[in-house]
Amino acid sequence: MKLNLFLFRSFLLSGIILTISACTQNKSSVRQINDFTEDWKFCLGDDSLASNEKYDDSQWRTLNLPHDWSIEADFSAANPASPGGGALPGGIGWYRKTFVADQSLENKDVYIDFDGVYRDSRVWINGNLLGERPYGYISFRYDLTPFIKKGDENVIAVRVDNSKQPNSRWYSGSGIFRNVWLVAVNPVHVDQWGTYVTTADVSTQSAKIKIVTRIKNSTNEKADIQLSTALLDADGKQISQESSSVSVASNDIAETEQNLALNNPQLWSIENPYLYKILTQVKQNGKVIDDYETPTGIRSFSFDVDNGFILNGEQVKIKGVCDHHDLGCLGAAVNYHAIERQLEILKAMGCNAIRTSHNPPAPELLDLCDKMGFIVMDEAFDMWRKKKTTFDYSHDFPEWHEKDLTDFVLRDRNHPSVFMWSVGNEVMEQWSDINDTIVNDMPNNSMIALKLANIVKKLDPTRPVTSANNGTDTTNYVFRSGAMDIIGFNYHEQDWSKSAFQQKFPKQKFIITESTSALASRGYYMMPSDSVYICPQQWDIPFDQPVHQCSAYDNCHVPWGSTHEKSWGIVKNNDHIAGMYIWTGFDYLGEPTPFWWPSRSSYFGIIDLAGFPKDVYYMYQSEWSDKVMLHVFPHWNWNEGDSIDVWGYYSYADSVTLFLNGKSLGSKSKPDDVFHVCWQVPFEKGTLRAVSYKGGKQVLAEEIKTASEPVSIRLTADRQTITADGKDLSFVTVEVLDKDKNVVPTANNFIRFSVEGDGSIAGTDNGDPTDSISLKKPERKLFNGKALAVVQSSKTAAIIKLKAESENLKSAEIEIGTVGK
Ligand code: GAL
Repeated sequence: MKLNLFLFRSFLLSGIILTISACTQNKSSVRQINDFTEDWKFCLGDDSLASNEKYDDSQWRTLNLPHDWSIEADFSAANPASPGGGALPGGIGWYRKTFVADQSLENKDVYIDFDGVYRDSRVWINGNLLGERPYGYISFRYDLTPFIKKGDENVIAVRVDNSKQPNSRWYSGSGIFRNVWLVAVNPVHVDQWGTYVTTADVSTQSAKIKIVTRIKNSTNEKADIQLSTALLDADGKQISQESSSVSVASNDIAETEQNLALNNPQLWSIENPYLYKILTQVKQNGKVIDDYETPTGIRSFSFDVDNGFILNGEQVKIKGVCDHHDLGCLGAAVNYHAIERQLEILKAMGCNAIRTSHNPPAPELLDLCDKMGFIVMDEAFDMWRKKKTTFDYSHDFPEWHEKDLTDFVLRDRNHPSVFMWSVGNEVMEQWSDINDTIVNDMPNNSMIALKLANIVKKLDPTRPVTSANNGTDTTNYVFRSGAMDIIGFNYHEQDWSKSAFQQKFPKQKFIITESTSALASRGYYMMPSDSVYICPQQWDIPFDQPVHQCSAYDNCHVPWGSTHEKSWGIVKNNDHIAGMYIWTGFDYLGEPTPFWWPSRSSYFGIIDLAGFPKDVYYMYQSEWSDKVMLHVFPHWNWNEGDSIDVWGYYSYADSVTLFLNGKSLGSKSKPDDVFHVCWQVPFEKGTLRAVSYKGGKQVLAEEIKTASEPVSIRLTADRQTITADGKDLSFVTVEVLDKDKNVVPTANNFIRFSVEGDGSIAGTDNGDPTDSISLKKPERKLFNGKALAVVQSSKTAAIIKLKAESENLKSAEIEIGTVGK
């Protein structure tokens, strides 16, 4: 790393600064997809005149998207979202962008694509209203062509209304929190989400690929074109190609089916998520007038009544997590590397599946799941017509569900990582068949279920439709509709056994759409009122518990949940269960159940909000991954005489021996279906050493030492070289050390951060759900020995120096180099 930075320095000094490519994504192509996220003006507050072209926004703040205004505030119980919604403000905000439409756009159709705006957005160009979109998680497009002034200045104005609170059971974020694209195409072009690629008869010998393409002709004349569709391998080498003559009537869309065959395909799998690419070219008079890329994975799969999930002919257990969309201290503002980091942490745990609870995800999440090999349950809604919070999407459902669900499937159906559609989570319609309000053509609730499933199946008959249900009886009106291809249970592990399930739902396929909801605070081991430890028993936490932290042992869950070990044990031992999605992979903002203010984020994560694994992460790693590992906890900083439970998770070994200051405390092996070993140890200062053995031979050893007073700060970056694109991030872990360089696990020192060089601090965190300081502030107390500072690049190649200072501690610095693409 040092060498890299050194080279990088000389590179800077030599005066060669890489220019950042003008934001066009694929420069060589005819189609222009421009990153449209820079230099927006923003104002928090409402002004009905702000949609006007000539409105004076010079006093507004300038910023880049994606942007979430809520995350910028301090947490407060007074915010109407309440701690359940993350205790941050909503409100109304305006965004405006003034831009010159290049003369080269003459004769082009120009679209603006929003990946997601939370919520209830309205968009204008040059004062002309383009439309509105209530659902905050849906992607949408407007056609700018009739209004855009080519070769001249234009203004896009966006009003975002997240003022009606509460409207969510978790933190939503506010604003244009996903990416925005300006797309310029010739008037005859591939329509929005205009390809649909499916595969059939897939084996390692061959596969058939069907491509249906929608070509849009926005001219007043018929267009005769050649549609060329090529299959490229991961290196971009063309494997096969088909061409068809297509005639598209004026101002119309034509749909064409083409078929390609492939010998010896590289199958997409969790271990080797191989991606082909379909390259679509529209040609007129021999000239390419549009090109469009669709990443494609070739895999076969099925769900089976007795054998769960089968991928490419082999049984695969779905080892998944549910996650909400926020990215911790970045709030809901999408960031590619932040999502990638989350998925890397999950992958290293052995996790192979993600549920996009409970809404359409950012497109980047699915791109990454395609590339990294995750099995996605793609979910549309948390509610239908019946509400869960006062101002939620239930109000928009009657008018918008059809459009939102259609757009969701059209956008996501080419992703090889998507294996199931979920049309809803724990919708209230489960419980009765009567609607409070008749919804259009759906007089009762089972008909809503049926209608939604039919919308999905018409657009994508290749994947099963499911839903996540906390009503696990046959009386559930969602099940009664007969529309679910897979029965999805949330919780109720007493109903998961083969006999219990198949008695109620004979010949049905089964998945645990949500499980566990266990509670833990990373690094916090104290029981509510105990200073002395007892070997933990399963324990339902009392809801009025005053401490606002939960022990990091796996012994605590909400009444409808279970311990991690219990739910995994059942899923592991039952082939008829396709797998499970644990609530949750990461802690998320909002829903601090069972607590309330001052808690403002959840305790359910296997990983905390800052991205630091809790101890149970290693239980999954020992069970789910191939890693040879050993993890022993808690830390070794207690009071003399305390009796401490020491737990160990391990893999590829038959036993673990624990030593305290060189003295053996005995050897332990995991009993059947218990996934940890446990010792009760009277505390004595010094070194706790665990050694795992297989067949008498040492596999791994781990030491935990009693730390003394903190004297210095240590900074460790996940990446010390990042891209100078104004978006990339380095996640820096902050710890404090004692005089012997031992990490102090109980430290809570207050740290101030600053940067020198062309970069910024995008956020700070510590994983403490009760910390009420804004996650954007460059200061943070350590929580149980750790904090996080997130450094963001600018567009200038630079060396960014992050400095961390604290009273009475030796400060620390780390250099992050940023380089052009
Ligand atoms: C479930 C719900 C999740 C979350 C979880 C907390 O019932 O589907 O969204 O609220 O409970 O335990």
